[in-house]
Amino acid sequence: MDPGVFVRRNTAITVPPLVPEIRLYLATEATPIWLATEETLARNGLPPPFWAFAWAGGQALARYLLDHPAVVAGRSMLDFGAGSGLVAIAAAKAGAGSVVAAEIDNFAAVAIAANAALNDVEIAVQTADLLDTVNSGWDIVTAGDVCYERPMAHRVTGWLRMLAARGVLVLLGDPGRAYLPDGALIERARYVVPTSREIEDGEYRETVVWEVLPV
Ligand SMILES: C[S@@+](CC[C@H](N)C(=O)[O-])C[C@H]1O[C@@H](n2cnc3c(N)ncnc32)[C@H](O)[C@@H]1O
Repeated sequence: MDPGVFVRRNTAITVPPLVPEIRLYLATEATPIWLATEETLARNGLPPPFWAFAWAGGQALARYLLDHPAVVAGRSMLDFGAGSGLVAIAAAKAGAGSVVAAEIDNFAAVAIAANAALNDVEIAVQTADLLDTVNSGWDIVTAGDVCYERPMAHRVTGWLRMLAARGVLVLLGDPGRAYLPDGALIERARYVVPTSREIEDGEYRETVVWEVLPV
């Protein structure tokens, strides 16, 4: 299964509702990829197609960066758990000096490259798992919608707090997922984000852009 062919065949070029400035290869009602392909991918030992959706946390972060370009202008940014690359693309459009998108899913890496090209921006993709590293060479680290599974949320939160302790500005976009960390978060912005019925149980999710503090 060629990932590039798979991405294009199972998506359509769409704009995420909260971020109409950005076009992405996403699942639509006509391409019901989550249910249709989750099983197929699982059979091949591949993760679910997170990259085919603009998750509420990512949409909120992208909106925030586009509306507050001074936060990223000229700075180096890492978008962790980048999925479609929405937040990374928003950062590049807002004038970030350099943007790296971190994703452990190789299909997502292909989708991010396709989406970056679609929006005419440069994004470097990093597929190594960064959670065990202490590299704090970024000015800003963003993470959209990564608190949906306990073990992952626990690892990510510890890593983000470690980066914050080293002086990195850490922003987390979260629509009230079960494993959002308690405390040591400052609210920067709040949005009502239209979402897809295919992946959420409602049509909107109230979503917060949090600044993560070192505890
Ligand atoms: C719910 S999706 C959110 C995608 C995107 N940030 C958004 O908001 O639309 C979470 C993503 O985190 C990625 N992920 C999980 N563990 C990771 C890790 N250790 N390093 C990088 N990405 C990871 C998954 O592959 C998935 O694409």
